[in-house]
Amino acid sequence: MSDPYGDRGNKDRSIANADGQGSVLPKASGKSYAAAGGPFLIGDNMTGGYGKGPDILHGCTIAVDKGEIAVIVGPNGAGKSTAMKAVFGMLDVRSGSVRLDGEDITGLSPQARVAKGMGFVPQTSNIFTSMTVEENLEMGAFIRRDDYRATMEQIYDLFPILRDKRNQAAGELSGGQRQQVAVGRALMTQPKVLMLDEPTAGVSPIVMDELFDRIIEVARTGIPILMVEQNARQALEIADKGYVLVQGANAYTGTGKELLADPEVRKSFLGG
Ligand SMILES: Nc1ncnc2c1ncn2[C@@H]1O[C@H](COP(=O)(O)OP(=O)(O)O)[C@@H](O)[C@H]1O
Ligand SMILES: [Mg+2]
Repeated sequence: MSDPYGDRGNKDRSIANADGQGSVLPKASGKSYAAAGGPFLIGDNMTGGYGKGPDILHGCTIAVDKGEIAVIVGPNGAGKSTAMKAVFGMLDVRSGSVRLDGEDITGLSPQARVAKGMGFVPQTSNIFTSMTVEENLEMGAFIRRDDYRATMEQIYDLFPILRDKRNQAAGELSGGQRQQVAVGRALMTQPKVLMLDEPTAGVSPIVMDELFDRIIEVARTGIPILMVEQNARQALEIADKGYVLVQGANAYTGTGKELLADPEVRKSFLGG
């Protein structure tokens, strides 16, 4: 049997845990995800824009499969955030569709998508700054009717600094720590897939590396990750799959390794 994850950029096979039931995941449903019907989450051939405005996305496709980290890169204004919002249901897609685990969810509200297992950390305003770290995590658990303490402990194990600062206002934290709060908040719903829009924006290279390590750890628990990154080179190094978006359309698609090796991609998007 061939190894479907052989092209992972960072060569860390242990992340490729397609059947892994992560500790922050819900209980095993017994469902098979690898079956026919395409990727676990796909925004397929999406065209659309904001309100009655012009189309921003032009037949854009982004997807992530079980056990994968998929990364979206591209210039400012390319439509990366718009594509993420479209997949999360914050934008009307005029054509194309969004499917989760084989189910067409194109018509669902963002709230309904969360209930279906989607976690989304937007690029901006992704925490409640006047609330404490712990209150932020509690807010994340809003759809849960069960006891979420164990999930919170798992998040504190993943991000120990958040345990130390749990009673501090989130707005007092450093940029990297705030991003940990935002990711932790999304994990409180026990998502089946996690979408992150520029999780390392505005942090130092060292903090960026740490955040990537934590994101890899989340992926290792069995949660596929679809993320936008402006640190394109570093992100493609940990990507199983990469998308370069330009003007709302797919310009290049490949494994992280393929994109890093592509002379055109290097020249235009990776600084040579
Ligand atoms: N809320 C909005 N309303 C109208 N236009 C928007 C909105 N957000 C972004 N845009 C426009 O959509 C285009 C793509 O933006 P965006 O998806 O944020 O790009 P990226 O995330 O790749 O930098 C830009 O032209 C931007 O001005
Ligand atoms: Mg953006």
